[in-house]
Amino acid sequence: MNSTQQHRPIMVGLVVGSSRQGRRGPAVAGWVAETAARHPATKAGEVTVELIDLAEQRLPMLDEPVPARFGDYRHEHTRRWSTVVAACDAFIFVTPEYNSSVPAVLKNAIDHLDAEWRGKPAGLLSYGARGGGRAAAHLRAILGEVGMKVRPDHVELQLFTDFQWPAGSTSDPTAKARIAPAPERAAEVTLMVTDLVAAGRAADPVPVS
Ligand SMILES: Cc1cc2nc3c(=O)[nH]c(=O)nc-3n(C[C@H](O)[C@H](O)[C@H](O)COP(=O)(O)O)c2cc1C
Repeated sequence: MNSTQQHRPIMVGLVVGSSRQGRRGPAVAGWVAETAARHPATKAGEVTVELIDLAEQRLPMLDEPVPARFGDYRHEHTRRWSTVVAACDAFIFVTPEYNSSVPAVLKNAIDHLDAEWRGKPAGLLSYGARGGGRAAAHLRAILGEVGMKVRPDHVELQLFTDFQWPAGSTSDPTAKARIAPAPERAAEVTLMVTDLVAAGRAADPVPVS
């Protein structure tokens, strides 16, 4: 590639994987977006991050008569969701751990589509009382099934060390804890963005002139 040729920007979909009232997901995703915004590739205009909040997508529980692998979507809500996902080159999935796994809303959103995920790179960030590693492990298997290239390392945020809680409130599940991860976690997200850009470039090797 000579200096006059440029790749089009990689669009990274930042998926907020929870939808309940009072969820911490948007705060976690907001911190990921801020961290990604400081990445040199983002500053250079080589990456854009698109927030995809599953609470706003309002997908029903899967009601398509034909499995997504056939690409025969009968419902408008699925076609709309397909357009959102197809527009992204790579994804960062932000998932809490619910009963050792991912929230149903996230699994449901993945199950609605197939080709739109296939071959695209993905990075995972989990959070939970002990970092949500079991949710991340399940999510890795699910995304592998739809053909995503999931990077080997995931980022974990621990509810009681990567958030600042008002004094004496850690046993209150509705307490407004402020997200405040250790600097190492931001470095891990930065590395994730670097990896996704590299993988996105590899998947789209032809520069635009
Ligand atoms: C239904 C449910 C199940 C949960 N199960 C786990 C669990 O298995 N492991 C864990 O570390 N935390 C668990 N938690 C705590 C969540 O990780 C924590 O509440 C987190 O903030 C949830 O993400 P959200 O606020 O974005 O919904 C659970 C929370 C809910 C609501």
